[in-house]
Amino acid sequence: MNFTKKHLLGLEDYSREEIHCILENARTFRAVLDRNFKQVPPLKGRTIANMFFEPSTRTLNSFLLAEKNLSAGSINFSAKSSSLSKGESLRDTVENIEAMRVDMMVVRHSSPGAPHFISQHTNAAVVNAGDGPHEHPTQALLDFYTMGEHFDSFEGLRVVIMGDILHSRVARSNIIGLKKLGAEVTLCAPPTLMPYDYSDWDIRYEPDLKKALEGAQVVNILRLQLERQRHGYIPSLNEYHQLFGVSTDHLDILDKKHIIMHPGPMNRGVEITSRLADHPDAVILKQVTNGVAVRMAVLYLLSQNLN
Ligand code: CP
Repeated sequence: MNFTKKHLLGLEDYSREEIHCILENARTFRAVLDRNFKQVPPLKGRTIANMFFEPSTRTLNSFLLAEKNLSAGSINFSAKSSSLSKGESLRDTVENIEAMRVDMMVVRHSSPGAPHFISQHTNAAVVNAGDGPHEHPTQALLDFYTMGEHFDSFEGLRVVIMGDILHSRVARSNIIGLKKLGAEVTLCAPPTLMPYDYSDWDIRYEPDLKKALEGAQVVNILRLQLERQRHGYIPSLNEYHQLFGVSTDHLDILDKKHIIMHPGPMNRGVEITSRLADHPDAVILKQVTNGVAVRMAVLYLLSQNLN
C-alpha cells in the first residue's frame, strides 16, 4: 500500500490496512535482527531526536537500536538535564531541537496530547512513545506483531487485557488497534481501575478473573501502576494479587493454544507471579525483541513522507 502518514501519534488515526502495512514491514526488519550484521541503510543521513520527558527502559533503548540499525543519526534529549529545568517552554524546546535540522522526534511525555502539540510546532515527523494514560502505539504494534507470530489471524482472536486499564496507555492503544483488526477483546480489572465510561470501545468487561480467562488465546497483563495506588483504587496489593494476579494455576482455563504477554516493567508477585513470567508460555522477552523490528518499520515508513 501507499503509506501516506507523516506522524504516529496514536492508533486512533491509523486504519486496519496501515496497521497491517507496519506489521508486514516489521517482518522484514525482524529477519535483519537475526543477522550478525544488523545495519541497513534506509535512514542514512537522517537525524532523530529521542525526547523522553519520562523514564523508560524498553521504549527508549528499542528506538535507539532501531535508529542505529537503520543507519540514522540520533540525539538523546533528557528532560532533567535540559533547559526545561530553567523554565524553557515545551514549544521553545521543540523549536530549538528542530532548528538543529532534526528530521524526526520520538516523544514520551506524562501529559496526554504532548506529541500532538509537538507535531503542531515542528516540520519533523513525530512518533508517540507514550503520552500519559492516552496512547502507546508502538507498544501495541509490537504486541500485535507478537500475537501474529503465534496466531494466523486477528479475526475473532480472543484477547484478555488484565489489570490497571484506567491508567494504561498500553491498554488504550491495544483496544483501539485490536478492534480495528477484528479481535474479540475482554477487559478484566477491579471496577475502580476501569474508566468511568467505556461504552465506545465495543469490549466485554468481566471483573471475575477466572471467567475472563476462560478460553482466552492471548492474555496481556498490565503493570499495576503502584505510583498511583495511594489514591485508594485497591484495598491492598495482597488483595489485588489474590483477586487479579495471574499465575501458572490459570493456564488450564485458557485455550489450549495461548500466550502470556506483559509490556513491562513487571511487578512480579503482584499482577503476575514470577513463575508465570518465566514460564515457556510467556512471550515477554520476545515482545521486547520484536519491538526493535516494529520501531524500525515505523521509522522507515514515516521517513518516506518527510519533506
Ligand atoms: N513497555 C514500556 O513502555 O516500557 P518502558 O516504560 O520501559 O519504555
